[in-house]
Amino acid sequence: MKAYTPLLELFSGHLNVHLARISLKEPRELYAPEEYILNLGGKRIRPLLALIACDLFDKDPRLALDAALSVELFHNFSLIHDDILDTAPLRRGQPTVHIKWNSNIALLSGDVMLVKAFQILESYSNTNFKDIYTLFSKTAIEVCEGQQMDMNFESQEFVSVESYLQMITFKTAVLLGCSLKMGAIAADMDAKEQDHLCEFGKHLGISFQLLDDLLDAFAPDAGKFGKQVGGDILANKKTFLLLKAIELADREQKQKINQLLKSKESESKIKEMLTIYNELNISEHCKQEADKHTQIAIDSLNQLQANESKKVQLKNFALALLNRDI
Ligand code: IPE
Ligand code: IPE
Ligand code: MG
Ligand code: MG
Ligand code: MG
Repeated sequence: MKAYTPLLELFSGHLNVHLARISLKEPRELYAPEEYILNLGGKRIRPLLALIACDLFDKDPRLALDAALSVELFHNFSLIHDDILDTAPLRRGQPTVHIKWNSNIALLSGDVMLVKAFQILESYSNTNFKDIYTLFSKTAIEVCEGQQMDMNFESQEFVSVESYLQMITFKTAVLLGCSLKMGAIAADMDAKEQDHLCEFGKHLGISFQLLDDLLDAFAPDAGKFGKQVGGDILANKKTFLLLKAIELADREQKQKINQLLKSKESESKIKEMLTIYNELNISEHCKQEADKHTQIAIDSLNQLQANESKKVQLKNFALALLNRDI
């Protein structure tokens, strides 16, 4: 999205100052993984959303720079730990931190990033600090709750779509809502605008995770996806794809799915599960569910009292993101 290039560059500059500071810090084992993962890039959606929240109301996006850095550090911390939980080999096309170093280093470097994510917020003035801090700590706890639900579901035989939606709301969606709301707080916007933005971000986040699940199974360009394709199938993740397949399967397909869930990790486990997903047209069902939440997100955005052309820009960004054109 070209329209947001200046905001992304503004964030990059801020992030580079942070990277320069940690490049000198010791012990290196604690800080090198942080540099590594941040230098691998990623889409930088969450910091961008924090800056967009200011820009939407024609406020100076620099007000949200520390909130943006804070959410990006938190996000990267959560990825380092998530890759241990998911035994994932690849992140952003490169070895995950626990593979490149080891799990102890991955845990501790993640921990220090989490603490720093909170420390960075100290730059906000009293009232904004309290509001941002309260929101951020509530969100961070929800992310951990969502991650634990995700892990519990791996070995749980029956998971409802409702529980799945609750789980992805917590592990992924609330952080997108929080990024926008932190930006709106930094811009001194009133509570109503903050809440519409937060709702927009949350439903955008739900669609985003549904599509992440879809790409995990069907990414057309594994290089661009940057993660192991089929990882969710190997780990018996209760993704929307699997839950919908269980719901729609006939007796024979159900038997096959149960057998695959009990089988150990292998290329054929992925291949055979994908065959069932294709037979049941699961991709379409997943896209439909994502579209539902995209529409709810857009409805919230429409309720916002903000610069109309910037609202259109944000809507286009959301749609492009959900097509993963970004
Ligand atoms: C990955 O998030 C974790 C999910 C919530 C699916 P992103 O897809 O935003 O990861 P990066 O930062 O762009 O690599
Ligand atoms: C990750 O969900 C959510 C968090 C990191 C909190 P996933 O496990 O689906 O994310 P990826 O696919 O590894 O990026
Ligand atoms: Mg993962
Ligand atoms: Mg995970
Ligand atoms: Mg995933």
